[in-house]
Amino acid sequence: MNEHHARVCGSAEWAEHLQNDILPALTAAIDPGSVMLEVGPGPGAATEWLRHRVARLVAVEHEEPAAEALAARYAGTNVEVIRGDATDLRLADASFDAAGCFTMLHHVPTVALQNRLLAEMLRVLRPGGVLVGSDSLPSDALHHFHVEDTYNPVEPGTLLTRLQTLGYEQITVSVSETLTFVAHCPADPEKTTEPASR
Ligand SMILES: C[S@@+](CC[C@H](N)C(=O)[O-])C[C@H]1O[C@@H](n2cnc3c(N)ncnc32)[C@H](O)[C@@H]1O
Repeated sequence: MNEHHARVCGSAEWAEHLQNDILPALTAAIDPGSVMLEVGPGPGAATEWLRHRVARLVAVEHEEPAAEALAARYAGTNVEVIRGDATDLRLADASFDAAGCFTMLHHVPTVALQNRLLAEMLRVLRPGGVLVGSDSLPSDALHHFHVEDTYNPVEPGTLLTRLQTLGYEQITVSVSETLTFVAHCPADPEKTTEPASR
């Protein structure tokens, strides 16, 4: 993230927006179970809200300083912070009840890598587990906001098919001011996940 972006994502206003306007509506109809994965937590605006709704939250963050700051913030709590790449999760198959990615897919540089990340999240979800996510809609303003930063916004019209092709089912994609989505890992343990190309 560029410096300006990091400041906004770490602000109280952003946390308030995510925690009041996005997450309650996005999770209203789902049961997150007891063990949840969050990828790309950044400064932790979603982490803070989610951790009060599950027994254990594992947060996988790619950038070392962000992972270290989050680990220090949540030392001794129900949040475990792992520095890692969510396109290559070092986590066991079927080990999470729920998984979430918020405002982070547009930081994953290619569609193939975004698909790989979503496939990894499916792999670590237990049968019947649920994926929830949100991201900003593509816009010129957002493009300018990402100067000297990765900016690969999700094309909302393609997301449902992408999730379906990866093996998710019961998928809902909503577009308002923000793109939000909910998708489920098939309850059948014989699910077939197509490997996403790098
Ligand atoms: C814009 S921030 C969003 C932070 C937080 N989710 C929020 O909504 O406030 C995107 C975060 O995703 C992280 N990220 C990007 N690619 C990642 C990957 N492949 N694996 C894990 N984290 C990643 C970035 O390092 C950054 O901290």
